[in-house]
Amino acid sequence: MIRVRLGERSYGIAITDSYRRLPEWLAGLRLPTQGWVISHARLLGRYGPALLGPLRRAGWRLSTLAVPEAESSKSFAMVERVIAQLGRTAPMRAPLLIAFGGGVVGDLTGLVAALFRRGVPYIQVPTTLLAQVDSGIGGKVGVDLPQGKNLVGAFYQPRFVCHNVRVLRTLPPRQRRSGLAEVIKYGVIADRQLFAYLEQHLAACLHLSPRAVRVMLERSCRIKAAIVSRDERETRGVRARLNFGHTLGHALEAATGYRRWTHGEAIAIGMCAAADLGAELGWLPRKDAERIARLIRAAGLPTRARSVPRAAVLRALRYDKKFIHGRPRWVLPTRIGRVVVTERVPAAVVQRVLARYLE
Ligand SMILES: NC(=O)c1ccc[n+]([C@@H]2O[C@H](COP(=O)([O-])OP(=O)(O)OC[C@H]3O[C@@H](n4cnc5c(N)ncnc54)[C@H](O)[C@@H]3O)[C@@H](O)[C@H]2O)c1
Ligand SMILES: [Zn+2]
Repeated sequence: MIRVRLGERSYGIAITDSYRRLPEWLAGLRLPTQGWVISHARLLGRYGPALLGPLRRAGWRLSTLAVPEAESSKSFAMVERVIAQLGRTAPMRAPLLIAFGGGVVGDLTGLVAALFRRGVPYIQVPTTLLAQVDSGIGGKVGVDLPQGKNLVGAFYQPRFVCHNVRVLRTLPPRQRRSGLAEVIKYGVIADRQLFAYLEQHLAACLHLSPRAVRVMLERSCRIKAAIVSRDERETRGVRARLNFGHTLGHALEAATGYRRWTHGEAIAIGMCAAADLGAELGWLPRKDAERIARLIRAAGLPTRARSVPRAAVLRALRYDKKFIHGRPRWVLPTRIGRVVVTERVPAAVVQRVLARYLE
């Protein structure tokens, strides 16, 4: 069990291959025993019984609520719909919410949990590689606005996180690559051994071989848990490191209406650009920038944003929460395994480098 250490808000992250022991892990947490599983219809059809069976047998009374499978479910309108549903049917006692899906379900459910009745407990049961290595942990919850990603949200920690590696088997290749992008991120920001592992075992990682999944999950979750434990609300310049590749990545997502790229694809382009920017400034050896781009390309992820309106990307960049004191905040590698967070990048250098990525 990996722990996120935040005093009374601490919680565990289980990495497992079945949901059978979930009731036992939740038992000591004094959670409501009735609530809602928020998910997608397809996931509930395929894995609902595996999740709900053990909980119901242990006495939990759970209903299910399905939202559409798309980034557009991360909207204020969807928060309202879900809350309306809970409000109509929730009993007098506060319910437990269970986020069962990828980052979309996790971010949406977390925000609903933060808002409904001024906060009800929730747990994360992530089912995509991306959500297991990243979005399911750390309590950043929120929805998008047309202007930018995650512009409405909260810090609201789950009470428990349960990763069942077995459900990843049905993940389509594009979603596997997308999750791998965040694992590459962890390698660059904090773990050069992990980065080298990905280089050496890329095929196994993309095939989600059990050993490769273990390595990716263990390493990534440990890094994220440690960072969040040190800087829960991104006030100490530590958690911001997790945004490597996200300055441009989020802008690309917003500029294309969240439809063209998955989150992982957008940050893959953003990581290439950030590494290039680091090299251009002389902070990162050029050969390391090339190594990062090579791994991203080998993983089948995009490295350039072709035919996006440059003005829309630059506009979205200004809306980003990482825009501090009138300047975008960049997370730039200084070597593989280390990054710096800075707003001090001359605009002319940014323009020159971005021109290579926005073709
Ligand atoms: N909160 C955070 O800290 C944080 C961190 C990273 C990313 N995010 C957010 O996460 C979101 C992306 O999450 P995502 O990549 O998981 O996308 P997603 O939630 O849209 O899931 C991708 C697709 O995979 C399907 N799916 C889920 N589990 C499956 C399974 N086991 N088998 C087959 N199909 C399955 C889903 O139904 C969906 O169609 C973005 O909105 C991003 O901003 C949040
Ligand atoms: Zn991300």
